[in-house]
Amino acid sequence: MSPRYDRIAMTLHWVIAALVLLQFATGWSWGMFERGSDGRFFLFRTHLVSGWAILVLAIARLAYRLSVPQPPLPDGMSRLQRSAAHASHGLLYLAILVQPLLGIVTVSAFGKTLGGWPGAVHVALAWIITAIVLVHVLAALWHQFGRRDRLLERMLPMRLPSG
Ligand code: HEM
Ligand code: HEM
Repeated sequence: MSPRYDRIAMTLHWVIAALVLLQFATGWSWGMFERGSDGRFFLFRTHLVSGWAILVLAIARLAYRLSVPQPPLPDGMSRLQRSAAHASHGLLYLAILVQPLLGIVTVSAFGKTLGGWPGAVHVALAWIITAIVLVHVLAALWHQFGRRDRLLERMLPMRLPSG
């Protein structure tokens, strides 16, 4: 079996993934609550705190990625598949850095100075990130259960029964 990611990489991966899902849950639900209501305020505050946490963890993760070698992709993947994997991972790193920064600019004095575009880009980018994450998840499941190369297990602390 190909080498696994280490505990630190796994922990950062799954904590960030959970927080990103929380961002979609909060970002797309506070609109259902009335302006000024407690529920809306709670979801919005959660979005801001969790978004800040993603930014800090993403910087830590990138620093770790660049300083500690991570496992190479499994053998037998074509050049096209390797490029697709590297490109999508690169885009995911970019997403977890740029999206929080856009959010922070939107709610800060810079947002007021720059006008509405940072918020608009943040909202649009949320859809693009949705698409990349979907491709990422489908690729991971295809590797594990279609190609049967145990790739998902590289990012999990345990083995999967079906592998
Ligand atoms: C990876 C991190 C983040 C993701 C995935 C994310 C995702 C989202 C989503 C899905 C929406 C709703 C878009 C819509 O109305 O259709 C949203 C809106 C918003 N987010 Fe985030 N967000 C992130 C980080 C942040 C951060 C760090 C902040 C601020 C500190 C922030 C502030 C906002 C604001 C102010 C809006 C409303 C924008 C507007 O309507 O102009 N977000 N975000
Ligand atoms: C939702 C937000 C997510 C983000 C931002 C994200 C981001 C990333 C990034 C940047 C990498 C590359 C790691 C590196 O080599 O440095 C990665 C790897 C990986 N991710 Fe995710 N991920 C997310 C969700 C998921 C989910 C839900 C799954 C499960 C289906 C998953 C499964 C994996 C696996 C298996 C790898 C390792 C691939 C390999 O062995 O080369 N990820 N992820």
